[in-house]
Amino acid sequence: MKNILKLKNILVLIVLITFFSCENNVEEESGVIAEESCDPTISFTASIKSIIDNNCIQCHGGNRFPDLRTHQGISNSAEIVKTQVVNRTMPQGGSLTNDQIEMIRCWIESGALNN
Ligand code: HEC
Repeated sequence: MKNILKLKNILVLIVLITFFSCENNVEEESGVIAEESCDPTISFTASIKSIIDNNCIQCHGGNRFPDLRTHQGISNSAEIVKTQVVNRTMPQGGSLTNDQIEMIRCWIESGALNN
């Protein structure tokens, strides 16, 4: 009888541990931008240019590095643009949605094409 009680306690403990560790995973994942949704054919002209035009070129319009007015300017600084956007350092004084950040990250990781 004593042994059965012990076993029960251990089972309850295992169930609790499993439950709480699952909850923690969900919490961690919800704070992270999903990385699975990257479509490598994402278009600079259709998707990226307007995000940059609306959020960056008022400050990066030629007077400050990097010059983000053209595809050439953006792709020349693609890695640093990606870093600053993903860690939300840029846009200074503004913000992008998770979807916009994900699109920029996806486009740069797919080669920052002029497509
Ligand atoms: C309100 C003005 C402003 C806006 C809007 C802005 N930036 Fe910046 N950006 C700056 C300033 C100022 C610096 C220099 C910051 C520093 O050195 O601390 C900078 C620096 C950078 C750098 C780093 C350059 C380096 O030498 O390290 C990158 C990359 C960058 N911005 C990208 C962007 C992108 C991409 C956007 C739009 C999503 C954006 N910025 C929007 C003002 C702005």
